[in-house]
Amino acid sequence: MKNYIVHDEWKIIENQWRPEYNEISESLCSIGNGRMGQRANFEETFTGKTLKGSYVAGVYYPDKTKVGWWKNGYPEYFAKVLNAPSWIGIDVEIDGKIVDLAQCEVSEFERILDMKQGILTRKATAILPSGKIIQIDSTRFCSIVDDECGAIRYAITAVNFSGKLSVTPSVDADISNKDTNWDEKFWNEVSKLVKNAQAYVVAETKKTAFHVATGMKFRLYLNGQEIEDFVAFRRKRDKYAGCTVDVPVTEGSELVIYKYAAVLSSENHAKEDLLKNCQEVLKKFEKKGFDKALAEQSEAWADKWSKSDIVIEGDVAAQQGIRFNIFQLNQTYTGEDERLNIGPKGFTGEKYGGSTYWDTEAYCLPFYLCNADQKVARNLLVYRHKQLGKAIENAQKLGFTEGAALYPMVTMNGEECHNEWEITFEEIHRNGAIAYAIYDYIRYTGDQKYLSEYGLEVLIGIARFWTQRVHWSKYRNKYVMHGVTGPNEYENNVNNNWYTNYIAKWCIEYALESLRWVETHYPPQYAAIVEKTHFDTNKEATNWEDISQAMFLPEDKDLGVFLQQDSFLDKDLMSVDDLRPEDRPLNQKWSWDRILRSCFIKQADVLQGLYFFEDNFDGDTIKRNFDFYEPMTVHESSLSPCVHVILACKIGNYPKAMEMYLRTSRLDLDDYNNDTEDGLHITSMAGTWMSVIKGFGGMRVRDGKVHFTPYLPESWTKMAFKVRFRGASMEIIVTKTTIEVENLGGEAIDVFINGQPRHIGPHEHRVMER
Ligand code: BGC
Repeated sequence: MKNYIVHDEWKIIENQWRPEYNEISESLCSIGNGRMGQRANFEETFTGKTLKGSYVAGVYYPDKTKVGWWKNGYPEYFAKVLNAPSWIGIDVEIDGKIVDLAQCEVSEFERILDMKQGILTRKATAILPSGKIIQIDSTRFCSIVDDECGAIRYAITAVNFSGKLSVTPSVDADISNKDTNWDEKFWNEVSKLVKNAQAYVVAETKKTAFHVATGMKFRLYLNGQEIEDFVAFRRKRDKYAGCTVDVPVTEGSELVIYKYAAVLSSENHAKEDLLKNCQEVLKKFEKKGFDKALAEQSEAWADKWSKSDIVIEGDVAAQQGIRFNIFQLNQTYTGEDERLNIGPKGFTGEKYGGSTYWDTEAYCLPFYLCNADQKVARNLLVYRHKQLGKAIENAQKLGFTEGAALYPMVTMNGEECHNEWEITFEEIHRNGAIAYAIYDYIRYTGDQKYLSEYGLEVLIGIARFWTQRVHWSKYRNKYVMHGVTGPNEYENNVNNNWYTNYIAKWCIEYALESLRWVETHYPPQYAAIVEKTHFDTNKEATNWEDISQAMFLPEDKDLGVFLQQDSFLDKDLMSVDDLRPEDRPLNQKWSWDRILRSCFIKQADVLQGLYFFEDNFDGDTIKRNFDFYEPMTVHESSLSPCVHVILACKIGNYPKAMEMYLRTSRLDLDDYNNDTEDGLHITSMAGTWMSVIKGFGGMRVRDGKVHFTPYLPESWTKMAFKVRFRGASMEIIVTKTTIEVENLGGEAIDVFINGQPRHIGPHEHRVMER
């Protein structure tokens, strides 16, 4: 755990030169706009600890699988999130030597991510080995208004010398992935162009043949005066293009480079037009100018914040934590492009590969349901519908038949690309989350028609998978499911994981219920779906009913708990408090077999099920299971603490809820798991958001109505959040003494506060005693 980021309500501030933490800060201060993003790398050369990273949405590379021992059924490749061409480079040369902060004495340093405006700034004072002193002052952003563009204002001051500054703004496609199986580079050059103060490289990914054009244009100002007629020397090498300009400076002079960039991909433009379009987009953006683009950026972020901010007063660390999470989510996925999804690292690192995990359905969907237009959440569901064919193929590869669908654990285009048998073949609960998301979306929006358009087909494929994956146990007189890995990846190849069996049973029942609903309300669509899926209304439906009714769900009646798997109680049960500090995190300290044999739980498993299906269980059952499993949970997945916050609030264990909240909201800011340097935990950030809304805010949707049962943590004096619900928009404000509901729309709304129905008129601000 670290504690070097200054606590501030709106900014992420690093205020000292700490090169040893540079990769962590690069992750924390990452910027993006849903279309592209980048780590907070320096513009000039830096040979110290750094993970250079730029990413373009949807662009990936299928890296040939490398495993120790090949297992039949493994995918041929792992889809890597690709480190893409960079547009940020500005090299600075003084006396023939490249400026590199790793080779200088850095006397002052500050890197700030301004979350309110979506702007990254950096200031550094560096004493070069020659004794010359320069100041660097940069401002950079990825525009959320023009999402193929970004800009930098880069100022260098010659503090104590006169002489020549040589600057080389560039674009660079000579990029290596940190994560590669065969030490290959993944980009080839297609073309490049350098003219005047402009440079372009069009690069192509190997195998997938995505084309990306990266271009830049710049202007120079010396002491506030534009330098009109400078000579720019062309710099070209393989996959790299730039322009060098020599500028004579006197002591105290400030040279400012305004660098405008555009990144266009063949996902959105015809390959043959890419270079031409890149030049046009860049020309338009440059014409707008830096100040105007910056002002628009700030306005656009103000608009985003007006819809999704959460205010916490009385606790700056908690406030900074939640805003950081909301900011990163908003810059990762905007929902405008239905081909895209939310990768666990977003645009902040390479680790995990792929862009889509069950994280999207299980954790991220509620954030977009509450904060964005309904179509955004719908797009996330349609994304999986589009990949149904591939999910069916994926199941076929594993021996399933007749339209059974197994969605991948990790994917870019619908194909499975994860290759650890215990996850690829066994962590099948992911299928359940995809069905649950359909239910969750409909429950929230009331858009039940979605079933007849897309949802039902997906539910049929998923239910078919479960009905083939279980088998009849004569011994138990029940259907059982062997050889699975539940959400807790610290147990593999177990039998009857309660969570997996429960969600399988639920999926089958929900598919049956949905079939009946579509048959009644949309008969022609029903007939078309039955025909398309070859659904046997008698035989299949009867078999599904039998299985769902006779599914085995392990529990221990004496303890009153559900069992994570058949033999969980054989384990040496102990508490996380019994572990020595030097044993943690277990995944870095213990051998894998030792972890598997232990009782320690990586992430919510039975508790994940109780969170999803809370309404099916009474409060005592939830409490007993929470009290049993919580002490054994090490939360070594970032997805875990949020579920514990929500359940802890539900059972009134507020100290635990607060402990878990701080852990989830500051997971990356304080580097809890010692891995922020690899990138941020983007999908778990949606979980943090849920901790406030569903945990402390107690928000639930039941029977088409929204409920709030708020709790204000001791150290907070106020909590306020906004929610969109079925065309209505409202703000909930909780203080020590009151609960306030502000209806932000022109129609009256009905909400439940602490179980009491309240009718709130148009634009009414109702204040109630707590
Ligand atoms: C978790 C998975 C999750 C993945 C990506 C893993 O550590 O155990 O549940 O899907 O990370 O976030």
